[in-house]
Amino acid sequence: MTRNLLLRTRPSLRASRPHVPPTTPWHLPHRPYSLPSQEASLASLPPIDPSALTITRTTTPKPILPPSDLIFGRNFTDHMLTLEWTSSTGWHPPRILPYQNLSLDPATCVFHYAFECFEGLKAYKNRDGAISLFRPSKNMARLNNSAARICLPTVGDGKGLIELIARFAAMEERFIPAARGYSLYLRPTLIGTQRTLGVGPPGSALLFVIASPVGPYYPTGFKAVSLEATSYAVRAWPGGVGDKKLGANYAPCIMPQLQAAKRGFHQNLWLFGEEEYVTEVGTMNFFVAVRDRETGGKELWTAPLDGTILEGVTRDSVLALARERLVPEGWAVRERGFTMGELAAAADEGRLLEAFGTGTAVVVSPVRRIGWRGRNVDCGLREGEEAGDVAKRMKEWIEGIQYGDEQHPWSFKIR
Ligand SMILES: Cc1ncc(COP(=O)(O)O)c(C=O)c1O
Repeated sequence: MTRNLLLRTRPSLRASRPHVPPTTPWHLPHRPYSLPSQEASLASLPPIDPSALTITRTTTPKPILPPSDLIFGRNFTDHMLTLEWTSSTGWHPPRILPYQNLSLDPATCVFHYAFECFEGLKAYKNRDGAISLFRPSKNMARLNNSAARICLPTVGDGKGLIELIARFAAMEERFIPAARGYSLYLRPTLIGTQRTLGVGPPGSALLFVIASPVGPYYPTGFKAVSLEATSYAVRAWPGGVGDKKLGANYAPCIMPQLQAAKRGFHQNLWLFGEEEYVTEVGTMNFFVAVRDRETGGKELWTAPLDGTILEGVTRDSVLALARERLVPEGWAVRERGFTMGELAAAADEGRLLEAFGTGTAVVVSPVRRIGWRGRNVDCGLREGEEAGDVAKRMKEWIEGIQYGDEQHPWSFKIR
């Protein structure tokens, strides 16, 4: 199906998908790329009420680890935030409790049919001890999208949950070192808790938030990674759920990651379709900086949000900063479909300037090379260089906002 035919049959796509070259993989015109969340069940029962919060403090506070011992996602704070939900009564009063095991019947639906979605965001402490979150409303919007798609309750406008997360993070502030690169990783998790083997929408759910103190992803500075272009396994597909943060999207990606590691690569570069469209890298969004073949102008590309790409908060931030700060320098910023072949051609012609992944855990992760069809595609870093110019500047700008060096509306002050 050519794009022209596609546009004739689905005129609505024309308005909603700008900046798209004729090579974009929309060759399945009658299938939506992603089920809009409003079509799934949305709860209209009592909303989350932060004023009903009760707090039970631990009697056995944990020791604080030296910052150098922090390993991502291994250590957790003293408490957890929990909210139960039932289809008859809506959200129950929120509770902060000592960190503890969950007790669930073996027939609970999350264990059998993967009613689970999650979020990842961080609380940052600056030199003066002030704590803030970074664009938490984006995480709330994405949580709603994920939850609604698997018939779990949504969190309304997210303001109540943000307030609760802020209270929780402030309570755990002794775990956050006041140094650049350190933070408290927050993991809101929503599961279906109905005790049944029947396949249907869960009548009850549990939302919990746990927190893990984390150190800089690259303690000794950037380290560029290598990627294996992967098309034998597919992370996300048209009409699937790749744009939702469902736990079920992650487990199937581990085996290909092990395979890539066996061949000496750090991560998978997920390709899609016979055309080998470049989608995401590992659990990050993917950007490339290239020079246009005709004009020589510099362009920053990332895949469009076509339903197969997770809508990363960092991706959105990089795009916004690039439009604000790189475009005045002459850059063009494009959300566009591009293939591995295009990337390899740009590299061969010396037009691939740099490539990097983006995500909350790492901010930006520069890429040195991509293994593809038995060859190495060199991503533009010079010998001994670990990051390109755009990656370095983006990390600087985003961390500057996260750690309060730059006052910015994206920073949500906790205290
Ligand atoms: C598949 C995938 N893509 C991209 C991202 C980056 O998203 P964010 O920038 O919101 O962390 C993540 C991490 O959450 C992810 O799991």
